[in-house]
Amino acid sequence: MTIRGINLLTNRFVSSRSRTTCVYKCGDACNGEAPNEFASANAYFGDVVKKSFSRRRALQAGGGAALVIGGGSVLAACGDNSGNNGNGGNTISDGENEYEVPRGMRFDMVSPNMDDKVTVPEGYEDRVLIAWGDPIFEDVPKFDFENQTAKAQEGQYGFNNDYGALVETPGGQLVHVSSHEYTTEPMMFHDWTPEDTTEEQVNIGLAAHGLTVLAVDKGDDGFLTPVIGHPLNRRITANTEFEIAGPAAGHDLLKTEDDPTGTKVYGTLNNCAGGLTPWGTILSGEENCNQYFGGFDQIEDEEVQENLSRYGITSETSTRNWEKFHDRFDLTKQQNEPNRFFYVVEIDPADPESTPIKHSALGRFKHEGGNIYITDDGTVVCYSGDDERFEYIYKFVSSRKMVEGDLAHNMGILNEGTLYVAQFDGNSPESEIDGSAQLPEDGAFDGSITWIPLMTANADGTSESHVDGFDGAEVCIYTRQAADTVNPTRMDRPEDVEPSPITGKVYAALTNNKYRGATGEDGTDAAGREYEGVTEVAPVTENKNGYVIEMDDDHAGTSGTWNLLLVCGDPDEAYTYFGGFDKSQVSPITCPDNLAFDEYGNLWVSTDALYAMEMNDGLYAVSVDGDTRGLTKLFMSVPYGAETCGPIVEHDLVMVNAQHPGENDEATTEDPTSNWPDGGDSQPRPAVIQVRRTDGGAIGM
Ligand code: FEO
Ligand code: CA
Ligand code: CA
Ligand code: CA
Repeated sequence: MTIRGINLLTNRFVSSRSRTTCVYKCGDACNGEAPNEFASANAYFGDVVKKSFSRRRALQAGGGAALVIGGGSVLAACGDNSGNNGNGGNTISDGENEYEVPRGMRFDMVSPNMDDKVTVPEGYEDRVLIAWGDPIFEDVPKFDFENQTAKAQEGQYGFNNDYGALVETPGGQLVHVSSHEYTTEPMMFHDWTPEDTTEEQVNIGLAAHGLTVLAVDKGDDGFLTPVIGHPLNRRITANTEFEIAGPAAGHDLLKTEDDPTGTKVYGTLNNCAGGLTPWGTILSGEENCNQYFGGFDQIEDEEVQENLSRYGITSETSTRNWEKFHDRFDLTKQQNEPNRFFYVVEIDPADPESTPIKHSALGRFKHEGGNIYITDDGTVVCYSGDDERFEYIYKFVSSRKMVEGDLAHNMGILNEGTLYVAQFDGNSPESEIDGSAQLPEDGAFDGSITWIPLMTANADGTSESHVDGFDGAEVCIYTRQAADTVNPTRMDRPEDVEPSPITGKVYAALTNNKYRGATGEDGTDAAGREYEGVTEVAPVTENKNGYVIEMDDDHAGTSGTWNLLLVCGDPDEAYTYFGGFDKSQVSPITCPDNLAFDEYGNLWVSTDALYAMEMNDGLYAVSVDGDTRGLTKLFMSVPYGAETCGPIVEHDLVMVNAQHPGENDEATTEDPTSNWPDGGDSQPRPAVIQVRRTDGGAIGM
């Protein structure tokens, strides 16, 4: 049987992202069973709800641990990817009409490539700001791959930077903030295995997670340089003390031996994307925290097992075996510790002494990030995606309004308000959504949004649940389970959900979902499960290349409309859709992940190419309005094996994080597949990239 729209791989269920990345980045979520049992193809919602409730309350026998299937890398050799280079001018033609290219997008498209370097348009240049291991304090040793210590790492830039933000503090200092999503020990240490890991290696890993606040100065050449030893510089790690805020604070499910109060957590983990708040703080999403906990097999209480499994926590030994030296990662000793992760955290980059916060009112799930929109009356809305296959999109509508200049008040905004989960309905007949991604007769994948309330947190610290069977605090701790009971829409891995500061429309990257509508013998996962089929909001069978959805949301309200702006992939393929724009004029794009906007309102999309399109990840500019809506142009690509993360698009400067360069299955520390950024035969290092126009002019003009 030929499945239309699937042409990029012969083996439909093998990720081209390296096995190493799958294991270390997301705890192998790319290959295992999706933890949402409602996503089964034949699940009758009522039955599953009943089962879920009875399991939760009465602890029936059966079920249990998810299995993990194998998978190899099929990273292909460099192909002929001569793209659509050119189009640097002010106009673009589809052969019939000439259109004005939006301001900010007037650059020569970069050709897709697999080079071990940063590729930028003609007339642009790039430079590294900082890389893994570079000291941020005066008295810290220089990076030395052969002589790493945990003490040094605590004062050095962390590993695998994902989110990036530039903030000017109230004192007028420019700081760059990064998150460090995960560590890849086999690329950090020679001959490393989880069994033989040393205590020092474990502690280096803990210290290489978290975030970095780095003061930067703008040089005469327009590039930023780090200010080593600046008093604002800070490393937040997997050991830093956090305060839990919102309805879950102090709940029994959050109490551990280290913290009998249930209000203090050591560390933040797997910080993926994030958002800059209008009050000058940073939100950061704790995402695939499941991989840090071991000992699941020894848990006998089925209710505990069930609740851990819903978050993908199923391992005997954790990916890095941290539990070998730290009891808090050992489920046989601390079953509540995972309940203290998977939150959005808030950090004040202007105060290195401040205690960062974990916001339980925003819900506990695999947060990609959190992004704020403020309505005309000052209501604060925070959007967040749960980045796993068949998970949901959420928003939090605050009842506390922002007060300019009152940081203590503003850092409590995300503790008061209502948490919602989204339902996306399509407006075309089901018969027109056949998995091929042919547009339905009304010419669009589109429909309506309904936001379903889950929990309201009150100003006095109390909360009320809107979900049967859960109290307010339980909704905040078991958010996935609470959401399951109200039948929200299961999405194809919601990554960044970001409102445009120009139009207020909200965009979300839905990166991929190979199990969507998977059919036949190969269509089941290792546990033999078949999954939910295509829907209008997820119209491609075995979605390998992802979508960008556009929402016109009644931000503080409970309704909105949506449409798919991009159905990603190779534009030569019939199923792709670029906002209706002429597909011969656009760059190929796969697996959209992080989003940003430029000052003109263009959407910028960075990619995390999970599936083979034989090209490095990159950063794209996408027109969202007018005649050129859907025009998609590759602005830059990152070195071989790297993912493009954390885009920042300023007037005359673009920044991205190059995460996991050279991370593929052939790579060893003896024989790395990337030597970026240091060149020669050096080990690859995740780093922050800056791009400017050589003449110092505005980006894309
Ligand atoms: Fe860390 Fe959702 O990617
Ligand atoms: Ca439609
Ligand atoms: Ca991501
Ligand atoms: Ca990413």
